[in-house]
Amino acid sequence: MEAQVHQPVLVNEVLGYLPPEEGKVIVDGTVGTGGHTLAILQHLPETTRVLGFDRDAESLAFARERLKPFAERVTLVQGAFGEVARLCSQAGFRHVDGILLDLGFSSYQLAASGRGFSFQRSDPLDMRLDQTQGRTALDWLNQLDERALADRLFEYGEERRSRRIAREIISARRMGSLENTRDLVDAVLRAIPPRWREKRLHPATRTFQALRILVNDELNQLRQFLEGFVRLLTAGGRVCVIAYHSLEDRLIKQAFQSLERGFHPFEESADEAVRSFFPFRRLTKKPVTPSREEIANNPRARGAKLRVGERY
Ligand SMILES: C[S@@+](CC[C@H](N)C(=O)[O-])C[C@H]1O[C@@H](n2cnc3c(N)ncnc32)[C@H](O)[C@@H]1O
Repeated sequence: MEAQVHQPVLVNEVLGYLPPEEGKVIVDGTVGTGGHTLAILQHLPETTRVLGFDRDAESLAFARERLKPFAERVTLVQGAFGEVARLCSQAGFRHVDGILLDLGFSSYQLAASGRGFSFQRSDPLDMRLDQTQGRTALDWLNQLDERALADRLFEYGEERRSRRIAREIISARRMGSLENTRDLVDAVLRAIPPRWREKRLHPATRTFQALRILVNDELNQLRQFLEGFVRLLTAGGRVCVIAYHSLEDRLIKQAFQSLERGFHPFEESADEAVRSFFPFRRLTKKPVTPSREEIANNPRARGAKLRVGERY
C-alpha cells in the first residue's frame, strides 16, 4: 500500500498558511490519497474539521481507509472543485475558513489506476479522473479532426510540434492502430525525431498533459473555482492553490491579482458592475516553491508553485 501513496507537496508551507485557531473548517478540494488532509488533521487543532472532495472514487476510497483514525473530523465526498460551493452547502457549510487545491493528478493514479495517465505503460486511453462520466481520451482522439487536435495539443500541452504529432495520431487512427497509450506514444515518437527531443522531458509528456486537460476539462474547472471561492471564505479565510504547469499558474495569478484590485477574477474593467464585494489580498506576491531538499526527496515536487490569498 505504501508504495502507491502519493507524497504530498509543500506540506509545511501549506500548514503554515492555514488557520491555527480552534474549530476551523478546511476544504481539501483535491484529497487524492489524503496526504495533505492527513497532515492537516495531525498538525492543526483537534477541533479542526476537513471537508474533502475529489473526482476520483478510487482515490477517495483509499483516502477513506487511510483517514479512518480521524473519521469523526473528516467528511469525504466525490465531486469536482469547480462546484465547491454546492458541495460545501450540501455538506452543511455555507462558509469555510480555508481551502486547499493541489492540482493535477497523483502518483497513485499514475501508477495504480491503469487508466492511461502514464506513458510508460500500455493502458487503455481513458484518462478520466471521474470514471462515471465524460468522454475518454480515445473518444476524443477518434472524434477530433487533425486541425482541432493539433490546436488542443498546442493550447493545453504547449506542444510546439503539435501539427506533426496530430498528423501521426490521425494516421495511426486511420490504420486502426490507435488503441492504447503505447500506440499514442509510438505516434508521438514517429512525429518527433531524436534530434528534436528535449533531454529532461519524455517526448510524449506534453501530449499526455494536453489530453488529460481536455478529457477532464481541467482549465474550466479551475476557472469556475477561481470565480466563486472567495464568496465561500469567512473573513480571514485563506485559499492555497498548488499548480504544476504554467497554464494553471497563470490563471491563478491573474485571478488573485484581479480580486486584490477589487474586481471579479476574469473580468477586470473600470465598470462598477464587475466590482467584487469581497476584499481579498495576496499573501504570496511570488509563488512559494519547494526547497531543493524536497525536490531531491520527491522529484514530482519539481515545478510546484503555491499561491495563497486571504479574504479579509
Ligand atoms: C496532486 S493530486 C492531490 C494529492 C493530495 N493532495 C494528496 O496529498 O494525496 C490531485 C488530485 O486532484 C484530483 N482532481 C483533479 N481535478 C479535480 C477536480 N476538478 N475536482 C476534484 N478533484 C480533482 C485528482 O483526482 C487527484 O486525486
